[in-house]
Amino acid sequence: MNIDEICNGIYYVGVNDRTTHRFEGMWPLPMGVSYNSYLVKGAEKVALIDTVHVSQSARFLAHIAEITGGAGIDYLVVNHMEPDHSGSIHAIKAMYPGLKIVGNSKTAAMLKDYYGLQGDDVMTVADGDTIDLGGKSLKFYMTPMVHWPETMMTYVEEDGVLFSGDAFGCFGALNGGVVDTQFDTTAYYPEMYRYYSNIVAKYGMFVQKAIARFDGVCINYVCSTHGPVWHDEIARVVDAYSRMARFEGEPGVVVAYASMYGNTEELAERVAMELSRNGVRNVKVYNLSTTHVSFVLADIMRYNGLIIGGPTYNNGLFPEVERLLSALKGREFKNRYVGCFGSGSWAPVSSKCIKGCLEGLKVEMVGDAFDMKCSMHDTDAERCHALATAMAAKVNG
Ligand code: FEO
Repeated sequence: MNIDEICNGIYYVGVNDRTTHRFEGMWPLPMGVSYNSYLVKGAEKVALIDTVHVSQSARFLAHIAEITGGAGIDYLVVNHMEPDHSGSIHAIKAMYPGLKIVGNSKTAAMLKDYYGLQGDDVMTVADGDTIDLGGKSLKFYMTPMVHWPETMMTYVEEDGVLFSGDAFGCFGALNGGVVDTQFDTTAYYPEMYRYYSNIVAKYGMFVQKAIARFDGVCINYVCSTHGPVWHDEIARVVDAYSRMARFEGEPGVVVAYASMYGNTEELAERVAMELSRNGVRNVKVYNLSTTHVSFVLADIMRYNGLIIGGPTYNNGLFPEVERLLSALKGREFKNRYVGCFGSGSWAPVSSKCIKGCLEGLKVEMVGDAFDMKCSMHDTDAERCHALATAMAAKVNG
């Protein structure tokens, strides 16, 4: 069994990266990440779909040579120019000098600006254009802002194979197998929430548009640029992406807090307990000082409730709380029930600052924001109870 052959004449030639600590310099990779590339062999021509991060060029070229047996490649289709996928273009071009690089007009501009490639090296295609490989044809769908302006998808009509770029991707290196039929994919779904919420979330509207373009199109395999190739689980993956693109959360509450000496943490624990007492089954408590915001964003994307708390710091927000709020604003999070609490020793302002930061987001504030003075008193416990009760009523509908 050739595990790299996805279906007749279509091969996986990607690579794993288990060395990079932070994707985009920011996002932790506890399971690593794969940079996926694919080879489509027609009767007359051969096309490569995307490349890989420059750090993996040597392995990438070796993987291709193993599949082609040294035969040539005619086209490199660039669905996405972000350097985790375009970074090996120079290496590919050096190995296959006659190859045409295929992209749209925005791709062409980036090829010039990133790699100095233009003129005869580049072939520009538009929405609906096709390239015949002999028995297999590539059809191009422009899907801008998923999640860069030049992003497009490539579809092999004869086999129902969609090369979807970052859409339907997830963090997590591959462990031998490539297609979801070959292994247990359970561990990839949390990494899908994290990948989407960290990288793509701001562009949900464009993800919805892209998904709509394939209504009624026969798709047997979804080959994204990161993570497993989807076959058996296409419906589940498309559903997850559709819900995330609409910011549709399932019932549950993330309690995201920071605490300097443990007093604000007591509020968070009390709120969590009260949520549970009120029948919220999914309560996820995160200390923002010890959990990277990447993981917190994933659960905020997953659940419909959020309560943020933190101490007053320099007459404003605690830095880790500010970081989370900035991440929410940058991604234009919406459709969430949100509550907040704060604390301070002499002039607490944090709940007011948290509320102020949330202004402009399409979220519904729930309960009364409050600030604790120094440490937990009976009145604070009552406020925790009231906030949790109001939130539970919202998230559980
Ligand atoms: Fe995996 Fe948008 O690059």
